[in-house]
Amino acid sequence: MSVTQHADTIRDRILIVDFGSQVTQLIARRVRESGVYCEIHPFNKVTPESLTAFAPAGVILSGGPGSVTATDAPSPPDALFEMGIPVLGICYGQQIMMARLGGTVVSADKREFGRAFVTVTAPSDLFDGVWKPGDREPVWMSHGDRVETLAPGFQVVATSENAPFAVVSDERRRFYGVQFHPEVVHTPDGARLLRGFTHGICGCSGSWTMAAFRDEAIERIRAQVGKGRVICGLSGGVDSSVVAALIHEAIGDQLTCVLVDHGMMRLGEVDEVVSVFRDRFNIKLVHRDASDLFLSRLEGETDPEKKRKIIGATFIDVFEEEAKKVGGADFLAQGTLYPDVIESVSFAGGNQVTIKSHHNVGGLPERMNMALVEPVRDLFKDEVRALGRTLGLPETMVGRHPFPGPGLAIRIPGQPLTRELLDLLRKADAIYLEEIRAAGLYDTIWQAFVVLLPVRTVGVMGDARSYEYAVALRAVTSTDGMTADYYPFEHEFLARVSNRLINEVRGVNRVTYDITSKPPGTIEWE
Ligand code: XMP
Repeated sequence: MSVTQHADTIRDRILIVDFGSQVTQLIARRVRESGVYCEIHPFNKVTPESLTAFAPAGVILSGGPGSVTATDAPSPPDALFEMGIPVLGICYGQQIMMARLGGTVVSADKREFGRAFVTVTAPSDLFDGVWKPGDREPVWMSHGDRVETLAPGFQVVATSENAPFAVVSDERRRFYGVQFHPEVVHTPDGARLLRGFTHGICGCSGSWTMAAFRDEAIERIRAQVGKGRVICGLSGGVDSSVVAALIHEAIGDQLTCVLVDHGMMRLGEVDEVVSVFRDRFNIKLVHRDASDLFLSRLEGETDPEKKRKIIGATFIDVFEEEAKKVGGADFLAQGTLYPDVIESVSFAGGNQVTIKSHHNVGGLPERMNMALVEPVRDLFKDEVRALGRTLGLPETMVGRHPFPGPGLAIRIPGQPLTRELLDLLRKADAIYLEEIRAAGLYDTIWQAFVVLLPVRTVGVMGDARSYEYAVALRAVTSTDGMTADYYPFEHEFLARVSNRLINEVRGVNRVTYDITSKPPGTIEWE
């Protein structure tokens, strides 16, 4: 990954070298939560030159699935240990540091997974203000290999039952290695230990706040755009809303937003976007109701991937048309986030299987020949939310659940889309979300929605027979949408929602609850 454009303006930054651990992103989260800017770079892209260019105040080596005992073990360049800056190795990171600096690592007879206890045996700057000798502390372990002999200059400062070298340090060179994972919440003192490393040992000031980020981002946008014109597609989602508000703050009327209404948004969403952006923020906003066009192109289609492709292509057509009408632009704004740009280290190899094609509008920048403005590409989702708050966006917008680009179209499986079905689903969805909000559960749940099933079922309403649609409720918890668990609602809550849906939404006479996790399911049904 290239060094981001603005790295020069942030002095206190930490480099995280990724060896492919499932939880590398959590290291970045913890470091940023403590007010320190950091970036994740894959180990095979870290070179003496990239180290000099990035000029970190310290380096964290992540864990990883590899084995130091393998001949082609993933390894950082020697230069990393010769820069005179502090290094913290976590799990595999500890082992590879030991191996590179003259110690040995072996495959352990007893693997250690999950909760374990470390006993602090000697003082270390790494423990400053957190642990002291004699303490016995819970940590989260996940390793097969372990350090067997220490590299010269190192000493053991904590041990565990199956990892005699649970924490090692070379206080003179400020090199530290931990066998456990401080970045996961199951290591209760982990965040404080990481903070001790970045603040105490690396000397970072912790001044990286959202307000500071916003001011820097505004300067960067002005420098990039100059007197040019920017166009931004608004979807009502968190990312595009924050990007639009930020760019408007930077360049005012040089920004035009285009809201392509495909007719598959949630109830009231389009109106809210128009009222917030046009009326409150006074942003130039083109609102195009293209629902007829989308529906006509989708006519008779039930295949999920084809629906996605039709919606993506139609979006591009309409967007392009509207962009031309306003006289074109030099730049296209996009709400790309950090997880989209991290080049993760993959040991799986082979071709990736496409489960769902999420890049609904890929190809737009190339086709329209515009340069990209991506002002939040260094941020995680909740950082984007925090940024939105500093820009004065309403909580209903910044706290909103994720919503897929193709919208309600992928929540009506197995039957052709019609305006009537979309309206029915929109109404059901609004009631369900209203109840979730009323129960105070909205922020605990990652995403919740109703799926309109392609089955009619028999019921009895009053004294009459009914023959109407069944719907499924979905609610999941997740941290990144990659894995998810269904939300364990109280029965009483489900009964209340079921009752309201059947009474208030004409066309629905049966309600079910989806209890599938991801994997093996996905969050959406299509
Ligand atoms: P799945 O269903 O793949 O969803 O478990 C993971 C997250 O992605 C969203 N999603 C989409 N987002 N276009 C999008 O922009 C899509 O085609 C799409 N399909 C799923 C889904 O809502 C969840 O947040």
